[in-house]
Amino acid sequence: MAKSKTVFFCGECGAESAKWAGKCSACGAWNSLKEEVVSVKSSPTGWTKTSPAEKAVPQNVRQITSEKTERVAMPDEELNLVLGGGLVPGSLVLLGGEPGIGKSTLLLQIALKLKLPVAYVSGEESAEQVKLRADRIGIDNEQCMVITETRLEAVLQNMQNLKPEIVIIDSIQTLYSDLLEATPGSVSQIRECAGQLLRFAKENQVSVFLIGHITKDGSIAGPKILEHMVDTVLQFEGDRNYHFRLLRSLKNRFGSTHEMGIYEMSGSGLSTVKNPSQVFLVERDEDISGVAIAVAMEGVRPILLETQALVSTAVYGTPQRSCTGFDLRRLNMLLAVLEKRCGFRLGAQDVFINLAGGIRIEDPALDLAAVAAIMSSYQGICVPSKTVFSGEIGLSGEIRAVQRVEQRIAEAEKLGFEEIIVSKYCKIPELKGKIKVRQFGRVDEMFAWLFG
Ligand code: TYD
Ligand code: MG
Repeated sequence: MAKSKTVFFCGECGAESAKWAGKCSACGAWNSLKEEVVSVKSSPTGWTKTSPAEKAVPQNVRQITSEKTERVAMPDEELNLVLGGGLVPGSLVLLGGEPGIGKSTLLLQIALKLKLPVAYVSGEESAEQVKLRADRIGIDNEQCMVITETRLEAVLQNMQNLKPEIVIIDSIQTLYSDLLEATPGSVSQIRECAGQLLRFAKENQVSVFLIGHITKDGSIAGPKILEHMVDTVLQFEGDRNYHFRLLRSLKNRFGSTHEMGIYEMSGSGLSTVKNPSQVFLVERDEDISGVAIAVAMEGVRPILLETQALVSTAVYGTPQRSCTGFDLRRLNMLLAVLEKRCGFRLGAQDVFINLAGGIRIEDPALDLAAVAAIMSSYQGICVPSKTVFSGEIGLSGEIRAVQRVEQRIAEAEKLGFEEIIVSKYCKIPELKGKIKVRQFGRVDEMFAWLFG
């Protein structure tokens, strides 16, 4: 008979403690200990308890031979980009995202398109539901096996027989191991299951995708240690009211974390967006005030974004500041710069900023378009519609240079813009194209030129 006991696990670092405390003694996080009933039936075979130390022989770093790992190309260009040029065999990839954003759709679609043996382990949906989704995506694949199982030992048993090259687990929170009596989704179960899957992946050189739920505050549910264990953490995000979805990498042992993939959700699954720099622009017949186009960079790709602002007199005592897709603290900083350095009285105005398309981008080069849109709305004067902006604003009102300015100019030109405004500190190479580059050192100089 297994002995069960009550222990406490830290939600941040996964540390175990016999009694509750306000602060985790291992990582110092406050109020992170959660109670769980654990019953260890036999000694767990997971990574936590077996140590490979006996086998490891010290080696001189110069004598270690490194074979260049061949990456497996995924049937999806955006995913390849985000992974850093394809999937590394034996890697563990965690995909997080809000419910209903399209995690299951994305990975099932990849499983169906792959020309390799794939196992899709669904703990959330029945085989019929997976089939319905596959029908909706509309791809037929005879090498894709669906397993509806939540017991980890049974899943691993199936893997020994099926010998897939890629395994998809939907989701890690529904799996449980026989070795522990805690409920699925608890810190100890997630840690044990992820540990066993990690060992399985490394020993058999099978790549494993784990789908992970996220909590209310946007972090992946379960112990923080889960993110440390996996090789790559991807996040799928987007605004439910729009059909664009962004795939970002938050951690990647095999590539950069600057890349972003853009998808569009349609009636038949997700499709990759061919011209990402253009999708967020809207065709318009007449000019309106409060709109400026920014050239931002996401990784190595330029994206043109419509920045909208609305400035109106505050009805209540405290003016409202609200942002969609833009950083609120950044907006407050920009408003302070406009007030203090340029003398505009925005203290009694409500200010709203919106990046069209429901996307969130953190490139400081958006600053210049944001202030142009704010001032355009405040003064009721339109910004010329064929002008784009790219520049960061410093606290003293100076316009600072941005990276990869050449690429930004080229993209703006490609999309038919006639003028780009950048910092005077940017070194602009000889341009062959027709686009006019206008350079300013300070925001007030730019306003004097824009609004006269
Ligand atoms: P889903 O993959 O179930 O999300 P998650 O696994 O992240 O919870 O996404 C489901 C949503 O996507 C659902 O609202 C329906 C929609 N959807 C489409 O619009 N088109 C499709 O082809 C599919 C399969 C789903
Ligand atoms: Mg799902």
